Amino acid sequence: MNLYGKLVVVGQGYVGLPLAMRAVEVGWSVVGIEVDEGRVKRLSNGESYVEDIPSLVVSEAIDSGRYRASSSYQDASEFDVAVVTVPTPLREGIPDLSYIESSGRSLGPLLRRGATVILESTTYPGTTDELFGPLLEETSGLAAGESFFLGYSPERIDPGNPSWNLVNTPKVISGIDERSLRAVRAFYDSIVETTVPVASVRTAELTKLLENTFRHVNIALVNELAMFAHELGVDVWEAIEAASTKPFGFLRFTPGPGVGGHCLPIDPSYLSWRVRRSLGRSFRFVELANDVNDHMPDHVVRRVLEMLNRRRSAVNGSRILLLGLAYKKNTGDVRESSAVRVAALLAGLGADVRAADPHVDASCLPSGVALVEADAEEVAAADLVIVLVDHDAFSRELVARRARAVLDTRCWLPTQRSGHHDAAPPIAAEIELL
Ligand SMILES: NC(=O)c1ccc[n+]([C@@H]2O[C@H](COP(=O)([O-])OP(=O)(O)OC[C@H]3O[C@@H](n4cnc5c(N)ncnc54)[C@H](O)[C@@H]3O)[C@@H](O)[C@H]2O)c1
Repeated sequence: MNLYGKLVVVGQGYVGLPLAMRAVEVGWSVVGIEVDEGRVKRLSNGESYVEDIPSLVVSEAIDSGRYRASSSYQDASEFDVAVVTVPTPLREGIPDLSYIESSGRSLGPLLRRGATVILESTTYPGTTDELFGPLLEETSGLAAGESFFLGYSPERIDPGNPSWNLVNTPKVISGIDERSLRAVRAFYDSIVETTVPVASVRTAELTKLLENTFRHVNIALVNELAMFAHELGVDVWEAIEAASTKPFGFLRFTPGPGVGGHCLPIDPSYLSWRVRRSLGRSFRFVELANDVNDHMPDHVVRRVLEMLNRRRSAVNGSRILLLGLAYKKNTGDVRESSAVRVAALLAGLGADVRAADPHVDASCLPSGVALVEADAEEVAAADLVIVLVDHDAFSRELVARRARAVLDTRCWLPTQRSGHHDAAPPIAAEIELL
């Protein structure tokens, strides 16, 4: 039964599809507008391509008669609420808002009095009131705040997180004025358990960038520390574990081969771009963090060179098995993945690179890299195994028993250090931590 009215979700990706499915579940009648015809076809056949959404959920949504995917904005007409979840990439370091602009231009002519439009795409402060709102006004002939309501609400979806999801993660919401905020709140109160209103759309936009910049900078801090600690002969991982026992004033972040995905490598640069353009100043923390995190794949390669060199081997011709290609544990998302960068660098140096990742398909591999299973044969045959992503699907026991040498960038394997892992299997390999 349609309890609430017609919702349009523009963009049916990692953010838009879960929102559309949740809205169907609570009683909205939903149209998912998606420009990628292939995606529309898959959704219309009841097939999901977003890992956290099972295909069954999509087919049940279609069967309910309250969900359809479409590439035609005409199917969005007469909407009560529209939520925009389109990409916001960087093009040569500059925010690319063209997807927001084109969805605004397409939605504007369909806007009716009393309808609500909410932007969810991650972007810099000012986008909703300076760019998106005026575009909607221009193409609809209606005034934002008077004839229709406008707001911004950042998305906090964390793909693969078993505990925190769209429904139980508090949602920051905002409107360009009081009435808009009320309309935005009414919508999200039907979708999520907790809404967190803030006073302006710019505050909501900044909140998202603050969250991701905080993470980006702290990861850069431990990454740089890991490089120095290695050279100083100190175990950074044990220091992080020890520091994490402090019950206040410390938050645990761990080193790795670099950051990836649609958020960390991109969002902080939206903020630094805005600061530079509006204030003429540089956001030094972001630039430093970009520099450190961007160079982590080079650091991994340097560590590989050191390990092989000690055995009088060269990268060229060595058989190297990479465990994990995705940017994140237990997902198949390879966008901006530093593991893919490591694979490309090693292949470029002439290594025989094989990569195992049960979540990704062969089309994601850089040229010269073969996709294999992380089985005993591959592990034992490799001159070096590099743990890049600690997917649950990989077997610690197998790698620890069968590998000849391992560079573990995630502190995933049991090490000689006592008490570090609960049930440490016997260690047969030479294991080095990042
Ligand atoms: N993926 C995440 O974990 C995450 C988390 C929080 C915020 N975000 C932000 O949410 C936004 C969307 O990210 P995503 O990961 O869902 O991206 P995505 O690429 O998975 O999905 C976006 C979809 O929008 C479609 N699209 C592009 N232009 C369109 C248009 N004019 N009309 C209709 N559809 C259009 C694309 O074809 C694509 O399918 C970005 O701003 C991102 O930074 C993402």
